[in-house]
Amino acid sequence: MTFQSPKGTFDWLPPRSERALRVREAMAEPARRAGYGYIETPTFEDTALFARGVGESTDIVSKEMYTFQDKGGRSITLRPEGTAPVVRAVLQHGLHNGRLPVKLWYSGNNFRYERAQRGRYRHFSQVGIEALGAEDPVLDAEVISLGVQGYAALGLGGITLLLNTLGCKECRPAYRAALQGFLRGLDLDEATRQRIEINPLRVLDDSRPEVQARLTGVPLVTDHLCQACKAYHEDVRSLLTASGVAYTDDPRLVRGLDYYTRTTFEFVHGGLGSQSAVGGGGRYDGLSEMIGGPPLPSVGWAIGVDRTVLAMEAEGLFGEDPATGTPVQVYGVPLGEEARRRMFLLLAEIRAAGFVADMAFGGKGLKGAMKGADRSGASVALILGERDLAAQAVQMKDLTTAEQTEVPLAQVVEALKGKIQ
Ligand code: HAM
Repeated sequence: MTFQSPKGTFDWLPPRSERALRVREAMAEPARRAGYGYIETPTFEDTALFARGVGESTDIVSKEMYTFQDKGGRSITLRPEGTAPVVRAVLQHGLHNGRLPVKLWYSGNNFRYERAQRGRYRHFSQVGIEALGAEDPVLDAEVISLGVQGYAALGLGGITLLLNTLGCKECRPAYRAALQGFLRGLDLDEATRQRIEINPLRVLDDSRPEVQARLTGVPLVTDHLCQACKAYHEDVRSLLTASGVAYTDDPRLVRGLDYYTRTTFEFVHGGLGSQSAVGGGGRYDGLSEMIGGPPLPSVGWAIGVDRTVLAMEAEGLFGEDPATGTPVQVYGVPLGEEARRRMFLLLAEIRAAGFVADMAFGGKGLKGAMKGADRSGASVALILGERDLAAQAVQMKDLTTAEQTEVPLAQVVEALKGKIQ
């Protein structure tokens, strides 16, 4: 019996795996230029961090966490998201006692026990940025535009930025009450009725058409904002407009995590079917206090690497040829034991000169090794037999023209420079 990767997971294999690397690099680059430093937190944390940070009433905490007891009897959870761990690390190391905002970016795996389908996995990867310790609409606008810049650098044209605000602890309770009042009057199933009491905002997010049809006239958060939240949101909007960032106001946008306050947003792509969110984020002014820290108003986002690659593929951004990695340019064909040892050293020299080089391993004969050269995609093969060794030379074969010349070993790098740009 052979093994398969667990349900809801998949392997990134070359050359497609290069696409994931490209997404990570492109999304991180604008953040680095804006002063965000790289942070890496553990893949697992105390379960209570997520229960309190992400929120007991969310699907993530109530249904989707990979939680287990370790051998020391601790309750451990594989991280379902990166924000709570980053805030935990900032508080633990006192980073918030220095210059604010603390700006961090990360890239890593996350785990959610979701109903697996295309674009929705149980193991997936995110790149994220977090700016902690400042309440300033300019910071919200910075965070959002850094995401926009990352997607633009990838060439993605079909992304829409949905923007909303969720108010603050001053105005949210009144909105929640108004929303509950409206929802309780609707004819809804039992599970949804329970949801109204626990997390009424999530009802707005229900994708079932029969639920959406009943929501006509539902109170919108934007009509219940306090003066401060209204002004803050207007600032964020006008800063985005001034910097040329297009957005769509979506007063029904709700996020699946409980820590959000004020600005919330999502990046959606039309080419992905039901899993359209390629990234999302917002402000989480109360999260630090929720996990035992001081007030630390903060804002950030995370983008899904897997979905972003799917979105790029939907736009045909990688062309026909999936190879986006570093194709082999030079292929060594050593004939015999001694030639193999010499080829090993020659390749090191060739690679140090900047070429991508590979060779035939395992003592293959000329025919098998030349087949390897063809498969590698290299344009030049270096054939080294016993006679060549004695002459301190190699046969350089141009694999496109089949032309072959003898080159002294000491001049191979020079000769390659003339042949390969
Ligand atoms: P999130 O919306 O849960 O937010 O996830 C962000 C992105 O991760 C999603 O837009 C999606 O692209 C990707 N994603 C989420 N779940 C899956 C899945 N099961 N399979 C594939 N991709 C997935 C957060 O995680 C927040 N921590 C974002 C944030 C940072 N807010 C403030 N700072």
